Amino acid sequence: MSIAEKKKQWTDTKVAKFLTRSPERYEKFLTTSNLEIERVFTPDFDYPGYDEKLGFPGSYPYTRGVQPTMYRGRFWTMRQYAGFGNAKESNERYKYLLGAGQTGLSIAFDLPTQMGYDSDAAMSQGEVGKVGVAIDSLADVEVLFDGIPLDKVSTSMTVNSTAAILLCMYIAVAEKQGVSADKISGTIQNDILKEYMARGTYIYPPKESMRLITDIFAYCKDNVPKWNTISISGYHIREAGSSAVQEVAFTLADGIAYVDAAIKAGLDVDDFAPRLAFFFNAHNNLLEEVAKFRAARRIWAKIMKERFGAKLEKSQMLRFHTQTAGCTLTAQQPDNNIMRVTIQTLAAVLGGTQSLHTNSRDEALALPTEDSVRIALRTQQVVAYESGVADSIDPLAGSFFVESLTDQIEKAAWEYIEKIDKLGGAVEAISNGFQQKEIQDSAYAYQKAIEKNELIIVGVNKFTISEPPPTGLLKVTGEVETNQKKALAEVKAKRDGAAVKAALAKLEVAAKGTDNLIPLILEAVKVYATLGEIADVFRGVFGKHQETVVL
Ligand code: 3HC
Repeated sequence: MSIAEKKKQWTDTKVAKFLTRSPERYEKFLTTSNLEIERVFTPDFDYPGYDEKLGFPGSYPYTRGVQPTMYRGRFWTMRQYAGFGNAKESNERYKYLLGAGQTGLSIAFDLPTQMGYDSDAAMSQGEVGKVGVAIDSLADVEVLFDGIPLDKVSTSMTVNSTAAILLCMYIAVAEKQGVSADKISGTIQNDILKEYMARGTYIYPPKESMRLITDIFAYCKDNVPKWNTISISGYHIREAGSSAVQEVAFTLADGIAYVDAAIKAGLDVDDFAPRLAFFFNAHNNLLEEVAKFRAARRIWAKIMKERFGAKLEKSQMLRFHTQTAGCTLTAQQPDNNIMRVTIQTLAAVLGGTQSLHTNSRDEALALPTEDSVRIALRTQQVVAYESGVADSIDPLAGSFFVESLTDQIEKAAWEYIEKIDKLGGAVEAISNGFQQKEIQDSAYAYQKAIEKNELIIVGVNKFTISEPPPTGLLKVTGEVETNQKKALAEVKAKRDGAAVKAALAKLEVAAKGTDNLIPLILEAVKVYATLGEIADVFRGVFGKHQETVVL
């Protein structure tokens, strides 16, 4: 069959079926000159390898996108990462963003929450409410989602070592809203390997961390079917200074480790793989980033089909969230960041992202102001509604440059994946510091290029001006810490202390065994055991991870 015939078959079968339940935004998509924009453009000449390399949107190997209609049927989710201070302040920011048109929630937690410490712990001093919202108990999560219907919105939570605790608090709040666990949708980041490799909010040793992660996979399979159980992240690997190739390779190698661990824990690959999700960076080099996303989908599809024998289409699809590159934001001339974020937004959209966070212009200086987050969100909306790039699927396909870059990134990423396999897999390689060393070398080379003016950063090493720092930046004061500690003391005074004690004791016994820990964590959070108390039970049983220092 010719490509044209295959396209007709794809249109008359897969697309036609999909359209019956999910119509596209318009009957016909037209340019301003009334020229029709086809759903997907394909070569009208012989293109050897078209099927293996490109195929059609919503079909293996998904190079051109995971949905048959992509943004013609539904724009990517506009999901701004937000959270600071206490639960009330963050709740107000979420309502502001939802009111401004964002279509999904993304919760930023402060470091004590991510590291398993309550706000009154010595380790928390100075960090409460700083880089995200302070969460100590279910009482905070009740305030965090007050007035936000959890059956209507999907929520991402950026938390890893304490992911199971926050997921249980979310389930408990949904139940209090009358929304059962099988109705909630969202994502928990729950990706500990990149924390060891690049981000640092780890607590427990790898084996015990992987157990908590696969316990979430198993629990959600049976109880929270619409929940994405992990967001396997390349974002932070790139933020740590990796190249685009390393970002893809190290992320997918982590993905392989999670699938291996889940299968070893007794799960069937098609039982959990459809709810694995990914998270990548959108950096400055527009066309390399587009090629990176396309290569990542093709590699993952092959890994799932050929290495793990996944049968379900959803098991083979790489669905991902993108955040524009925080590390490219400059403190100098902060308005220049609006243009950087626009270019990075185009990269994510032309690369087929499912969900997107756009950084605010002032984030190299402080938490973003409301004005700045609105501009960041409007950037997505202008690209979605005005640029036309969402009207045809994978529009850069067939470009000699983009296809060549896609192939080269794929080839280089496979070489890394094979190297990591030889080192015994991602967990082993990380414990030997392999990925960390590769990232450090890339980061060093990138920084040297900037310092030698080989790499121009506008406003930093060229086109500089002397300017006063911007005013009106958002500051989180120490008052948050004082108030949060007071609120925590009230929760502890009000709760049933004996019930908390009993729940924590049961959890400790189970942690020493092999049972799934999620049901007992859920029980504990429901009697207002705090995040720090639960994390401490696991510290006592699992111990704490010691980092491999890589020189
Ligand atoms: N037609 C019809 N239906 C469509 C469609 C179309 N064209 N496109 C998508 N849909 C459907 C999907 O099938 C899905 O339905 P389903 O759940 O029944 O399958 C629904 O619409 C929602 O679509 P997606 O699942 O594609 O979009 P979501 O936004 O819900 O999920 C995700 C995207 C990537 C799968 C998910 O994991 C996600 O939201 N991730 C976000 C992660 C995130 O925000 N992370 C932030 C981290 S911040 C951080 O770490 C950085 C800090 O440290 C600095």
